[in-house]
Amino acid sequence: MSIPKAELHLHIEGTLEPELAFELATRNGVELPYADTDELRKAYRFEDLQSFLNLYYELMAVLRTERDFEDLANAYLARAAAQGVRHAEIFFDPQAHLARGVDMGTVVEGLWRALGDSEARHGVSTQLILCFLRDESAESALETLDAAKPYLDRIVGVGLDSAEVGHPPVKFREVYEAAAALGLRRVAHAGEEGPPSYIVEALDVLGVERIDHGLRCMESPELVARLVRDRIPLTLCPLSNVRLRTVDVLGDHPLPAMLDAGLLCTVNSDDPAYFGGYAGDNFDAVRLALGLGEERLRELARNSFVAAFLEHDEERRARYLSEVEAYEFG
Ligand code: HPA
Ligand code: ZN
Repeated sequence: MSIPKAELHLHIEGTLEPELAFELATRNGVELPYADTDELRKAYRFEDLQSFLNLYYELMAVLRTERDFEDLANAYLARAAAQGVRHAEIFFDPQAHLARGVDMGTVVEGLWRALGDSEARHGVSTQLILCFLRDESAESALETLDAAKPYLDRIVGVGLDSAEVGHPPVKFREVYEAAAALGLRRVAHAGEEGPPSYIVEALDVLGVERIDHGLRCMESPELVARLVRDRIPLTLCPLSNVRLRTVDVLGDHPLPAMLDAGLLCTVNSDDPAYFGGYAGDNFDAVRLALGLGEERLRELARNSFVAAFLEHDEERRARYLSEVEAYEFG
């Protein structure tokens, strides 16, 4: 069993494996433009973030009912548990579903059918983070937050994802202010393909507590110093960065330099069905490609629980942290 860890950067729609996509397509009478899972897998060659997003949104067509979202989440939780995930903060993209006529209740209630008994069934505690699509309008984000109001007891926070360049954080100032007023935690993708200034803006304008990806902070020593000083967690996704060509090969990933700089880094899977691995696979990959030793791996696991939104249950955080310290590498 892989070291105990929290997964803090995981898009539930990005856990849709080809086999489940075809199963749901059949169940719902949806036609996919691929003959079979082999042909679909051949489409998993991405040039950049946008080329991935095109397929990611296309395959979502198979997700229609509460049961579909329940099956999707249960499949993820079983795989995550098998790779040492003890706590998962799960992103979902409601605008991508609302646009297809699937309402907020279907998505949240469906996911909740799996999340509600995840601890008993999988041994994984969970939270939900609602993401706004940054290539949609600010008005659409506000409408989405409004549609989520009946479900806020099931949603810990808000995030910002989809195509980054050209959609700076400031575009979403108003909806983040509204989310904060509702008591929601705030995170945002920044510095994946976008410049370091987007990270600064996410902190200053949106008031985010964690940065998703954030690896381009390394271009600004001043920003790195700030992130270190303020202990801002970065949710890195190494296999995603290789597949979306943010880094050429895993051996070039800046993770070791980021840890050496004192940044509070975590390792996550992003869209594991598309990028070649779940949380434990990402840990294994960085260990092999970057030569990270046991203490570095333990630091990454520890960081994941330090950065988790567990303020309502510090006893649980302490329990998870003691599991990390007690873990013996095989
Ligand atoms: N980046 C931005 N948006 C996303 C991603 C990602 O890696 N995955 C799903 N939506
Ligand atoms: Zn992401």
